[in-house]
Amino acid sequence: MMLEQSNVMIDVHLNTQDPAAIKEEIRAGLFSTPRTLPTKYLYDDQGSALFERICESPEYYQTRTEHALLKTVADEVIARTGTETLVELGSGAAIKTRVLLDAMARANHLRFYVPFDFSEGIVRRVARELVEEYDGLQVHGVVGDFLAHLEHLPDGGPRLVIFLGGTIGNMGPEDALAFLSSIHHEMDSGDCMLLGAQLITDVARMEAAYNDAAGLTAAFNKNMLAVVNSVIGAEFDPDAFAHVARFNHDERWIEISLRSIRAQVIPIPELELALHLQEGEDLLTEISCKYTRGQVERLLTEAGFSPVAWYSDPHQLHGLALAHKP
Ligand code: SAH
Ligand code: TRP
Repeated sequence: MMLEQSNVMIDVHLNTQDPAAIKEEIRAGLFSTPRTLPTKYLYDDQGSALFERICESPEYYQTRTEHALLKTVADEVIARTGTETLVELGSGAAIKTRVLLDAMARANHLRFYVPFDFSEGIVRRVARELVEEYDGLQVHGVVGDFLAHLEHLPDGGPRLVIFLGGTIGNMGPEDALAFLSSIHHEMDSGDCMLLGAQLITDVARMEAAYNDAAGLTAAFNKNMLAVVNSVIGAEFDPDAFAHVARFNHDERWIEISLRSIRAQVIPIPELELALHLQEGEDLLTEISCKYTRGQVERLLTEAGFSPVAWYSDPHQLHGLALAHKP
């Protein structure tokens, strides 16, 4: 733990994973069906910067929609929850967060903000920016993996835990339930949760959001290979892969992959192996599940929450579910 400024504190829980476990995780993914890469390698500093640009691209409607929706509901959410501590999981650049912080300030309830992300650079930057922008705000950042380090969430209530951007969709339905249950477990009775979910809409719109014309999503996806190269000394050549993103109708998720554009052999000395890929073979890097209101509310209920309110935009592209822990 490090004290940086009187109103900023940052806890760092990363770099605790043992190197053998990292190798085993990567090896297991590469030899599973389909072949996968651990999605956490999307968000190094370079990946986080690319993601910020994706959010501003014309095709990626999700961020804009959720931002506008938050503006219409923020005062009501803060009034209904009495929030004084805002905890954000996967906080990223925390752009939309400002809408809720503004509402807390208007209600004279602004005390603490807890950004939780495994991108250390972004947590530090956001902490610095927000204490400048909001008088009297204390930021207690957590750099960690929200699948492993949730027990390190600082106390201080009444808390509102927010999980925006449809990041819940980047887990399969079973993992999403397990994750929401673990959040519920860490929360105190009376704390609330605001969950953002991307809703099922027309396929062309959903697919375009992951295939922007400027190639930002392709660069974001391929950056993962550079991260894996640096983590385990693999020799993936990003130019030997094509970015592919399409909707899987059976699973109702977007599948994002890297497709080998030719037969190739990739040396991975630290795993003492060489990976043989055929032309057209895919490495699955991420999924993004699309939900219905009913599915989101069922997930929350099964995780132990009581749904309080459901908000959506006029085109039903995005939902925000407010729930509380009884
Ligand atoms: N909330 C922001 C960013 C969404 S992108 C928005 O709505 O625009 C997802 C964010 O979650 C990234 O910043 C990524 O670094 C973070 N993230 C993804 N998986 C994580 C994990 N397991 N632990 C901690 N942070 C994670
Ligand atoms: N949570 C975002 C989403 O599912 C993450 C994301 C956006 C993403 N674009 C991507 C993940 C491209 C991988 C590749 O919409």
